[in-house]
Amino acid sequence: MGEFEPQTANGKVLWHFTMSLDGFVAGPDHAMDWMAAATMQPGLIEQYARTTGAVLGGRDGWDAYPDPRGIYGGAWSGPLFVLTHRPEDATPTEGVTFLDCGPVEAVRIGLAAAGGKNLEVFSPSIGRQLLELGLVDEIDLHVAPVLLGAGVRLYDNPAGAPIRLHRVGAEDPTAVVNVRYRPLR
Ligand SMILES: NC(=O)c1ccc[n+]([C@@H]2O[C@H](COP(=O)([O-])OP(=O)(O)OC[C@H]3O[C@@H](n4cnc5c(N)ncnc54)[C@H](OP(=O)(O)O)[C@@H]3O)[C@@H](O)[C@H]2O)c1
Repeated sequence: MGEFEPQTANGKVLWHFTMSLDGFVAGPDHAMDWMAAATMQPGLIEQYARTTGAVLGGRDGWDAYPDPRGIYGGAWSGPLFVLTHRPEDATPTEGVTFLDCGPVEAVRIGLAAAGGKNLEVFSPSIGRQLLELGLVDEIDLHVAPVLLGAGVRLYDNPAGAPIRLHRVGAEDPTAVVNVRYRPLR
């Protein structure tokens, strides 16, 4: 995982998460405390804060953490869009727009608001919809050294066909990535 290219702000749609080794982006009941023990490379948060123009999330993520000032630990501020079928019962919040529309329209609105920077999608369920529509430019992951065993999966689509990927920046984009861990005793 050494050669991780810095992110650029090119008006891309990024599906971006910190993920457990076993593929969860949140624990049971949307728990996020497991992330605190993972160390991010110096400057990484600032890199994403700099390249992100707007964020698109789903209603469950918003209901669990209804505070736009928490994004990148407060290092980022900007337009946040929350996709929901029930915008009328969401508490109006400065900087947050509740959208009841299809994913294509949500991306159009989000990219326009991003002003040439990236639109970050912070939702597994919306990311899955956008993947099916061919609207995800990059899947951008930081793998935390932890096994959660349950929670919200990055990609949950039991009936779906495999999605083939190419690794960005790799000499051989189809090569497996080798990682080796030891359980902490
Ligand atoms: N690890 C990380 O880096 C990271 C970063 C960000 C978020 N997260 C986590 O990700 C989790 C949230 O993901 P999630 O997939 O469980 O839930 P989610 O995407 O936040 O919410 C799903 C809900 O969004 C609404 N929605 C989705 N697609 C829609 C559409 N096309 N039209 C209208 N509404 C739509 C629906 O809400 P209604 O129908 O109920 O209105 C749906 O039930 C949270 O636990 C959050 O903490 C992790």
